Amino acid sequence: MAYKVKDISLKDAGKKKIEWAEAHMPVLIALKEEYEKEQPLKGLKIAGAIHVTKEVAVLLRTLTALGASVAWAGCNPLSTQDDVAAALADEGIEVYAWRNNHDEYYWCIDQIIATKPNLTMDDGGDVVFRLHTDFPQMMTDVIGGTEETTTGVHRLKAMAKDGKLKYPIIAVNNAETKWDFDNIYGTGQGTIDGILRSTSVLLAGKNFVIAGYGHCGKGLAMRAKGMGSHVIVTEVDPIQALKARMEGFDVMQMDEAVKIGDIFVTATGCKDVIVEKHFKHLKEGAVLSNTGHFNVEVDVKALEKHAKSKEEIRDNCMKYVLPNGKNVYLLAEGRLVNLSAAEGHPSEVMDLSFANQVLALLQIVKFHKDMKPEVYEIPAEQDQRIAMLKLKSMDVNLDSLTEEQKKYLGSYAEGT
Ligand SMILES: NC(=O)c1ccc[n+]([C@@H]2O[C@H](COP(=O)([O-])OP(=O)(O)OC[C@H]3O[C@@H](n4cnc5c(N)ncnc54)[C@H](O)[C@@H]3O)[C@@H](O)[C@H]2O)c1
Repeated sequence: MAYKVKDISLKDAGKKKIEWAEAHMPVLIALKEEYEKEQPLKGLKIAGAIHVTKEVAVLLRTLTALGASVAWAGCNPLSTQDDVAAALADEGIEVYAWRNNHDEYYWCIDQIIATKPNLTMDDGGDVVFRLHTDFPQMMTDVIGGTEETTTGVHRLKAMAKDGKLKYPIIAVNNAETKWDFDNIYGTGQGTIDGILRSTSVLLAGKNFVIAGYGHCGKGLAMRAKGMGSHVIVTEVDPIQALKARMEGFDVMQMDEAVKIGDIFVTATGCKDVIVEKHFKHLKEGAVLSNTGHFNVEVDVKALEKHAKSKEEIRDNCMKYVLPNGKNVYLLAEGRLVNLSAAEGHPSEVMDLSFANQVLALLQIVKFHKDMKPEVYEIPAEQDQRIAMLKLKSMDVNLDSLTEEQKKYLGSYAEGT
């Protein structure tokens, strides 16, 4: 089996991590047990690029148990856990992933595309975009794909709108049991984890600036507040800005926030959020980081150009000396800090996201002939099913409606 990883001898450490993840992903394991006999993915080749973490390894074990053959790459140069990649290669997965650079990253994507897949699984849209633009000859057997994150869904919807998308994609990101859990609780906790591992700063008493009060921003704001930070939000959407204000956070323009922030995290999915004009206003010791999908939110190129010098002072923490003599710190090259400087989202929350991935693939296998080359939402029943499975694993019981209550909720006759 072909593979390329950093060091295959890391496999045992990787396997231990995967075992930990497996023990914390009961929904995914329940789906594996339910469908293993049926082999619904038998004979299908999947080309996937989602961050190579211990949780993805549990997903890949599930997909292969359901009959698929899988070729895998990371979806960000810095997010691969090299020991996990080694363990996957050792288990016979065709994996091309190591903590690498931009060119090596695309080389890995090209390897999985070269397997001429039947299904694609994407996290950010790079596989689908490259398949459509550079390797259309490898797309002839594809019946559909899934997309894991907000930015990828935006890209793929734009492709569909332009008439460029050639096969159906299910927007796993937009499932309630994904967006409202992974992006909120996963990114919230993981981003704090990445900042702490790369700086060990005290969060209490700091001005913590969050750009974008969407799903990720909300989770992060909640966690930063809980750690004693004073949270400041920047937004472009009036409703989200109002929500942040009513939650008790300061809301202001980035032009003002840069003057008082101690720690900055961009979480917008947009570009050019912290740019050159802001650098001269930063406080001594300001920490800049990003948790959005691509490294375009902090203008790192401008920072490199603007700074007098730079020095890596600890893992994932680069000190830049600005022309005005101030030191500012950039974490993980401006790439998503939770996955580059920490381990990504905890297993418990990826359990929900990856259960959605598995069920979305089964939907495509069953219904692809009736699907158009569009971006589809996750059906509500799938969300309900996954939430029920998760609650069961947590020993949480809920009430159910009586017939009388159902009738009441569906009628209009009873008033005061
Ligand atoms: N780090 C991770 O592991 C992780 C996990 C999930 C999602 N993501 C990524 O994080 C990003 C945000 O995802 P989300 O689900 O929170 O999206 P979202 O759409 O829920 O929220 C984004 C928010 O940013 C705001 N915004 C957009 N441009 C802005 C700008 N220039 N300045 C200030 N605010 C702006 C929007 O109004 C919106 O409220 C995406 O790139 C997504 O792919 C990362």
